[in-house]
Amino acid sequence: MAIRNLLFEHREIAGIEEMDVYEKLGGYEGLRRAVTLERQAVIDEIKTSGLRGRGGAGFPTWIKWNGIPKNTDKPHYLICNADEGETGTYKDRELMLKLPHLLVEGMVIAGYACLGTAGYIYIRGEYVEPAWQIRKAIDQAYKKGYLGKNILGIEGFNYDLYVHMGAGSYECGEESALMSSLMGERGNPRLKAPHAPLPVHEGVWKSPTLVNNVETYCAATWILKNGGAEYAKLGTERSKGTKIISVSGHIAKPANYEVEMGTPLLELLKAGGVTGGKLKAVIPGGSSVPIMIADKLDKINLDYESCAASGTMLGSGGFMVFNDTTDIVLLMKRTSEFYMHESCGKCTPCREGTRWLFKILDRITSGGGREGDIELLLDICSQIDGRSYCGLGDAAAWPIVGAIKAFREEFEYWIEHKCSPIGDHAVPPTPVVVNPLLTLTPA
Ligand SMILES: Cc1cc2nc3c(=O)[nH]c(=O)nc-3n(C[C@H](O)[C@H](O)[C@H](O)COP(=O)(O)O)c2cc1C
Ligand code: SF4
Repeated sequence: MAIRNLLFEHREIAGIEEMDVYEKLGGYEGLRRAVTLERQAVIDEIKTSGLRGRGGAGFPTWIKWNGIPKNTDKPHYLICNADEGETGTYKDRELMLKLPHLLVEGMVIAGYACLGTAGYIYIRGEYVEPAWQIRKAIDQAYKKGYLGKNILGIEGFNYDLYVHMGAGSYECGEESALMSSLMGERGNPRLKAPHAPLPVHEGVWKSPTLVNNVETYCAATWILKNGGAEYAKLGTERSKGTKIISVSGHIAKPANYEVEMGTPLLELLKAGGVTGGKLKAVIPGGSSVPIMIADKLDKINLDYESCAASGTMLGSGGFMVFNDTTDIVLLMKRTSEFYMHESCGKCTPCREGTRWLFKILDRITSGGGREGDIELLLDICSQIDGRSYCGLGDAAAWPIVGAIKAFREEFEYWIEHKCSPIGDHAVPPTPVVVNPLLTLTPA
């Protein structure tokens, strides 16, 4: 498999989470180099590297860093999005657990480049052990003078770093909801550009704020140590460097794999091979992206453009493998239950729509499917997609549209025969009642 360990280079080294081992292996050299450069030159290194945000959207990192205003007296805040709620994604967890200094160093580098006053690492509530590791790494960094006042002896380079635990809400990974939550408000999204300033101009506490994902900051550490041009040698024309892919599902060796951008998608199936049956489908970028049928996979590479051209997305790199015992309709029911549960309820299309999607899928998979249910699902998805206040609505609609496109006959089978097309189910399964109020009685 085309493994290319840049961030994961030292993942297997015993004690790498400790300052002394990390430093022995070149840790904090990226920061030491960064502070010899002008702040703009650090941003230019990121620009040269071509790094794009690894939280899902792939937004060019340097544009955010460059957008932070330099001529204001307001404090500047940096946020690391370590909420990692996207189903199938667990790369940030491993980065924080095993390589906490890679993240701390990346956040100090970004703090230097963006005139940071303080940084917040917003970690999802379930990630207790990664939060401990980060906490310990921060303490060690203070002792070494990489955090605090006059960092590395540079007069006026004062920067603090804090851990802030979320409460396990998927929506709090959306950056404006995250900022609300960080400020002690309810984790709802806020109106963003084009109607209001981007967080780089006005984020938390009405101050310039930079929000990046864990992997993005870790990549910045590598880039400042090795140079943006080195990073840009890897990958495709528009998707540079490497991406960590979290492989899970019907696969013999589920794990995080760091691969060069542009690696053929099928390469990842070499992670021990598909288990329990023949390959049926893959979701390449987390549960919110469209599922891809097996016979189309040979055309897809793991980069932003190739995935988009094939009708899916690289997203956060949550790569889920499904064998031919998988019932796609049941999979979509479970997926829609997740989005219904995680909808924050602020806007109607998502609050009501996610519930309707789940109800219909629950009814179909309880043997109560009706003619026209597929069109109804598609209609509801079209009313949610692009009409919701934040991206969670789109994330709820896309997988269902994708599944109907790729596996329509399975939905039709369920509706006509009142049972699964998979395996030897002779009778409809007993409804899985999540909440009695939500389950419709089969007609
Ligand atoms: C519903 C929703 C959940 C999200 N969850 C996460 C998350 O857990 N982690 C993350 O980094 N980005 C998440 N994002 C994307 C963030 O809003 C934001 O774009 C990202 O943190 C920016 O960092 P990047 O530029 O380094 O990718 C989510 C977006 C949406 C719409
Ligand atoms: S789309 Fe609307 S209801 Fe759904 S999470 Fe976003 S703001 Fe909340």
